[in-house]
Amino acid sequence: MEYQLCPSILSADFNRLGEQIQTLERQGLKWLHIDVMDGDFVPSISFGMPVIRSIRRESNMFFDVHLMVTEPERYIQDFVACGADSITVHAEACEDLERTVERIRDAGVKAAIALKPATSVMEVSYLLQDIDMLLIMTVQPGFGGQEYIEDSTEKIRQARQMMKEEGVEIPIQVDGGIDERTLPIVLEAGASRIVAGSYVFNGDLAENVKKIGKIMERE
Ligand code: DX5
Ligand code: ZN
Repeated sequence: MEYQLCPSILSADFNRLGEQIQTLERQGLKWLHIDVMDGDFVPSISFGMPVIRSIRRESNMFFDVHLMVTEPERYIQDFVACGADSITVHAEACEDLERTVERIRDAGVKAAIALKPATSVMEVSYLLQDIDMLLIMTVQPGFGGQEYIEDSTEKIRQARQMMKEEGVEIPIQVDGGIDERTLPIVLEAGASRIVAGSYVFNGDLAENVKKIGKIMERE
C-alpha cells in the first residue's frame, strides 16, 4: 500500500498559504487535504471555491477536497471546475449517497466517502466497490486541533477486515487528532492516507514534514 501524508490547509497560515503549499511540494508531498465547511453540516465555516481556484493556479499537488457540507451533490461541478482531483462526501450529509458518488465519478474525479465517528462502516459496505477511498473521521468533523477518538482504531481495523472479505482494495484515510503518538497507531491499524493539520503546520513546516516522513517510513 502506498502511504501519503495529506496536510490539511485548515491549519495553514492564510497570509502565506501559497508559500506554505510550495514548501510542502518541495518536501516531496503529493496530496493536499482541503476542508470545506458550510456552517450547517458542521458548526464552523472555512473557505470555498475562490481559495481552491487560486491555489490551483500555482500547485500541481493532488487536491483532496473534503466536503463537510449538507447535500454536497449540489456543488460537485463547482469543485471540479475549481480544481478538485478527489471529492469526499459525508455519508451522513447525502440524501442519496449512491447517486452522489456516481455524480462525482461522472464528473471525472475520484470519489470518497467520509464517516463521522458514530457512523458504522457497515452502513457503506454496499458502496465499497464504487469508491476510491474511505475516510474514517478520527475526531468529530468541524475543527482542527482536537484529540484523537480512541475507538477509531478498532473502526479502522474493522474497515480493513471488511474490505479484505469483499476483495476491495481501496485506501483508508484518517482525519483528526493525528500526532506523534497516534500516527503509528493508525498506520498499524491499516490507514494509508494520513490527514494532519496542526501536527504539520504548528511550528516549522519543513521540519515537521521531515519528522513525520521518518515515522511513516519506519512503520
Ligand atoms: C476536521 C478536519 C480536519 C482537520 C484536522 O473537521 O476535517 O481535516 O483539519 O486537523 P488536526 O490534524 O489538527 O486534528
Ligand atoms: Zn478533513
